[in-house]
Amino acid sequence: MELQYGLPKNLMGWVEANRDKLRPPVNNAAIFPDGNYIINMVGGGNTRTDFHDNPTEEIFYQIRGTAYLNIWDRGKFDRIDLKEGDVFLQPPHLQHSPQRPDPNGLCFLVELKRPKGAIDALNWYCPKCAGLVWGASMELTDLVADLPRTYEVFYALSDAERTCKHCGTVHPGKDYAAWHAIHAANH
Ligand SMILES: [Fe+2]
Repeated sequence: MELQYGLPKNLMGWVEANRDKLRPPVNNAAIFPDGNYIINMVGGGNTRTDFHDNPTEEIFYQIRGTAYLNIWDRGKFDRIDLKEGDVFLQPPHLQHSPQRPDPNGLCFLVELKRPKGAIDALNWYCPKCAGLVWGASMELTDLVADLPRTYEVFYALSDAERTCKHCGTVHPGKDYAAWHAIHAANH
């Protein structure tokens, strides 16, 4: 008999079978690739500098280890910690930059397929003054393909193009450690 519906999966069994995908540089994999929800498991061992503006909600469930979200809100940085066991419903358009330094971290992340016409954005902010350095908006059709293209455009910019117009600091591009060091020294 042809199945009318998918069968349940053992979540940690799925994690064991897909552990290679959960490590850097990919760090995440879809648990149910065919659904209307985008359900990903996200591993750890990486940090980043981009801030994501999602027109829809995201649900984070930090299953193992800790992580945190750098937040950019109305011109200022903030931080939301995700401790092991925490669940967080992130409202639409809260600009967030997930940091997962814990290599054993594991986060169950639910997003929505974007309604037609909804616009996602990726923004890079000055680590010193939180001014906008560069950003791009897009109608997201493929979460896996559309976002990396934007990273490549940003990473290809020159130092002059990555210089903050507000305070003159050079955004370190994809040198995540350098960005976090300047941010930590100023906040
Ligand atoms: Fe700046």
